[in-house]
Amino acid sequence: MKWIVVIGIMLLALGACRNVNTQPEDELPLIPSYMPPVPYPADNPITREKAELGRRLFYEGRLSPDGNVSCSSCHQPDKAFSDAPRQISVGFDGLQGQRNSPMIVNAGYRKAMFWDGRAGTLEEQAMAAFLNPIEMAADTVSVGSLLRSAEYATLWRRAFGDTAVTMKRAMQAIATFERILVSADSRYDRFVRGDSTVLSPLEKKGMQLFFSDKTSCSGCHSGPDLTDDQFHNIGLFFHYFDRGRYVVTGNPLDEGKFKTPSLRNIALTPPYTATGDFEKGLLTTLEQVVDRYNDGGTNFHSKDIRVRKLNLTDEEKSALVAFLKTLTDSSVLKNPNFTKP
Ligand code: HEC
Ligand code: HEC
Repeated sequence: MKWIVVIGIMLLALGACRNVNTQPEDELPLIPSYMPPVPYPADNPITREKAELGRRLFYEGRLSPDGNVSCSSCHQPDKAFSDAPRQISVGFDGLQGQRNSPMIVNAGYRKAMFWDGRAGTLEEQAMAAFLNPIEMAADTVSVGSLLRSAEYATLWRRAFGDTAVTMKRAMQAIATFERILVSADSRYDRFVRGDSTVLSPLEKKGMQLFFSDKTSCSGCHSGPDLTDDQFHNIGLFFHYFDRGRYVVTGNPLDEGKFKTPSLRNIALTPPYTATGDFEKGLLTTLEQVVDRYNDGGTNFHSKDIRVRKLNLTDEEKSALVAFLKTLTDSSVLKNPNFTKP
């Protein structure tokens, strides 16, 4: 009897060894070849197995004490991983934060996380959301026992080679899942890759305007994700209750500055801006956003000089909106690697 147990344990150990991830730790074809490689920290290379565990955790409501709030509550796959149409997210116990939940597709390319850039990596960001009392309010003791249960053992062993559960590893897995959430198949992307027929004349006109000095849109919304990863004040308020980047740096010049958001899938993620345009009403449509820019915004000492009266015609405004809509990649909403397992 004793020997049977010992042999059983040995077989289990062998099984565990065989499950150790032996994939090469560099690029996996998880990320489309025409996109730049997604950077990752040295201690958390991207593997399919880790992304799979991360996906389970991303959709796991039991990480929150009432069993209801998961990352996907505020980053919903069918809303391009935002929580449209909410302006301000609602987390554990119905508690509200003060900011809009951003779309996190291609977040792996971002240089700083959150609207004010207070987290440097996706791992750090995930831990913050996980522990935040108004987001998931996780109780690490009960989460620990869930993750140590038989239900998770195989996924855990495949991802990390053993079943040692730590919150750090859980966040590494979630971050890995986020790193494979890559979208680059909008009509705009196809145009960039050489198919000049996918955009209508109005959309092309909007694209030209967007990338012109006349509007300066691409001065801040630049690069493959239409963001410079910098912080700017675009003149939304006379008074900033949420002081944005200033909260992190304490520098008065950073008052009311927020991270330039990626504009991918922008048509799917209303309403717009970090906190909500309460002084003049919510910006719920792209037409309203373009009108705000056209008006030149509210004067504020840190407002960027590129935000100024643009004097666009109605046709130019419609062209800009039409261009913004070409940034929708609906494949990301139903990609079977991204949805709830
Ligand atoms: C209650 C709603 C809510 C939940 C739950 C939530 N988030 Fe968020 N998420 C937000 C809001 C709101 C922000 C912006 C907060 C800020 O900028 O201060 C955000 C920001 C982010 C960002 C930064 C994106 C960027 O470009 O700056 C990432 C990544 C992210 N969340 C991932 C996650 C992950 C992973 C989880 C689960 C561990 C999670 N979120 C849970 C609402 C939520
Ligand atoms: C000076 C840099 C800058 C310029 C120029 C600029 N933007 Fe922005 N844009 C930002 C920042 C920063 C935000 C977020 C501001 C906030 O939430 O407080 C933003 C927000 C947006 C949003 C809402 C995004 C979201 O997820 O809520 C849209 C749409 C947008 N910009 C489009 C444009 C267009 C179109 C132009 C040109 C007419 C333009 N931007 C010019 C920096 C800029």
